[in-house]
Amino acid sequence: MTAPLRSDATMVPVALGDRSYDIVIGRGLLASLGARIAALRPGAKAAIVTDENVARLHLAAAEAALAHAGVPMQHIVVPPGEGSKSYRGFEQVCEAVIASRIERGDLIIALGGGVIGDLAGFVAAVVRRGLDYVQVPTTLLADVDSSVGGKTAIDSAHGKNLVGAFHQPLLVLADTALLDSLPEREFRAGYAEVAKYGLLGDAPFFAWLESNWREVFAGGPAREHAIAVSCRAKAAIVARDERETGDRALLNLGHTFGHAFEAGCGFSDRLLHGEAVALGMALAFAFSAKQGLLPATEAERARRHLAEVGLPTRPCDVSGPLPSLDRLMELIAQDKKVKRGMLTFILVRGIGAAFVENGVDAGAVRTFLGEKLTER
Ligand code: GLY
Repeated sequence: MTAPLRSDATMVPVALGDRSYDIVIGRGLLASLGARIAALRPGAKAAIVTDENVARLHLAAAEAALAHAGVPMQHIVVPPGEGSKSYRGFEQVCEAVIASRIERGDLIIALGGGVIGDLAGFVAAVVRRGLDYVQVPTTLLADVDSSVGGKTAIDSAHGKNLVGAFHQPLLVLADTALLDSLPEREFRAGYAEVAKYGLLGDAPFFAWLESNWREVFAGGPAREHAIAVSCRAKAAIVARDERETGDRALLNLGHTFGHAFEAGCGFSDRLLHGEAVALGMALAFAFSAKQGLLPATEAERARRHLAEVGLPTRPCDVSGPLPSLDRLMELIAQDKKVKRGMLTFILVRGIGAAFVENGVDAGAVRTFLGEKLTER
């Protein structure tokens, strides 16, 4: 007997020809994991890749769901944190997958947040020249961002995500009940990526979030709706530009400023990735307003919502010493490469109206950031 496939789950298709897949969103979906895998790949074995924290909370339920559907499985548990996205972590997971006798036709299940999705996805991309994998995200950020889109990677000594592959999953199963166990700060950091979809391309969704964010935090239908709208937005962009040669760069709204602060804080828990994105988006809106692209009141509206949910929106919101202006500019230049003094940024003409601008004057960015660093 297999667990029933819930019919009230929300399905978001990612249309990529023969690499198309569904994102299935709903409360309590983990119980249907085995039945869904058995339906997609009858007879396949599975290796679950997860971390120690997620294993404590959700591994037993994932294994029970697979056992219920008769899917043979092994698990591979790595330490939590970015350190597992290393050559060493990659080697260990590859060797464990091979030792588990996972063959072509079998699959890997990434049960966890962004680190696990990126690592397990990259292992799936290369072991036996490519295995199927299923994403089971356990954080809000992974639900709406890292589990969708097929970018997989580990880190190099030169920077994050520099060794990787495009490899689309077979299925994304987003069980919104798994988010109940997230610390509030982590949920809030993931919410920055939800707000990003409104800010970059969907003004009515942003207005909906302004009115309904408390319900999104509380769980229930509003949370599912926010995740579904976010996934639809990402799926549409990925379907248009799978390999990031154009439009997909819009997903980097807030990431250039944000990444500079995140790196300048040593990727520590002083500033989580989503928090850095929130700060970066507030700065991208303020910078765009300073360039005359939108009224300052509109930029302030974007900032106010992020601040209202408790996300950092000004450099002074970050605890501890801030990177110097020189250091921030160096990090921005490394991230985006300056060409003849010009930088590429995602700017905005309003809420829901982001665009890629290749000719941003590095001097104007420096002046702007210098002003922001002195704000209290
Ligand atoms: N896996 C994240 C992305 O493709 O954007």
